Amino acid sequence: MTDGAFPCRRDDWRDVSCQDVPRRFATSVNVRHNRPSVGHMNIADWAGDTARTILETPLPRRWAHSQGVAAQARSLAPILGPDADLLAAAAWLHDIGYAPDLIDTGFHPLDGARYLSDTVQASDMLCRLVAHHSCALIEAAERGLADQLSREFEPARRDLTDALIYCDMTTGPDGQRMPVEQRLAEIRARYGPEHPVSRALGWSAPELTGAVTRVGRRLAGCTLTARTALQSQVRVLTAAA
Ligand SMILES: [Fe+2]
Repeated sequence: MTDGAFPCRRDDWRDVSCQDVPRRFATSVNVRHNRPSVGHMNIADWAGDTARTILETPLPRRWAHSQGVAAQARSLAPILGPDADLLAAAAWLHDIGYAPDLIDTGFHPLDGARYLSDTVQASDMLCRLVAHHSCALIEAAERGLADQLSREFEPARRDLTDALIYCDMTTGPDGQRMPVEQRLAEIRARYGPEHPVSRALGWSAPELTGAVTRVGRRLAGCTLTARTALQSQVRVLTAAA
């Protein structure tokens, strides 16, 4: 099984869809466990349904934000190739740890990743992306949870980590697109200067901004290549006409 495979950490997706695989349910979790049991449903569709189930009613603003982050993930499909659905799934699910029924440590990347790992046995890379999204390790350190986070979840692939930062840090709290600088300022204003989230941003802002820049450049390069190829095709067709 590849890192990006879905949904089970130990089994193939198609196998899981037709087997009654035993699962561990977190006893504190009181949400409907939206098991990916429909064979034709891909990872992104499943993730969207799962995120809606967990967030829409208790946290409508988080749900709006998650929809915007997922839309940004879709916009990165040209540079992600076969990983596009995995990134979209991570975008849908990255904030589910805020849901009251999923709170355990109170640190949403860890709580969300634990739910995905322990309750629905999501793929290893999906859990790692959620656990470490948007420089979560730095905020974990502010909360005294860095060792715990590192012990339970390894960092995700760098390119996908960057892509998820791009999506999260260019999407506002209501799902609107915004520049990374505005997003960082908005987060600081919303939480206040003494909050662990704002303190962590003091350390992570350069990395967050750098990731957005890197991904933006890749996307621009890809768009330019596609445009050039299209113009060449048009020239060939025009000459042949
Ligand atoms: Fe987010």
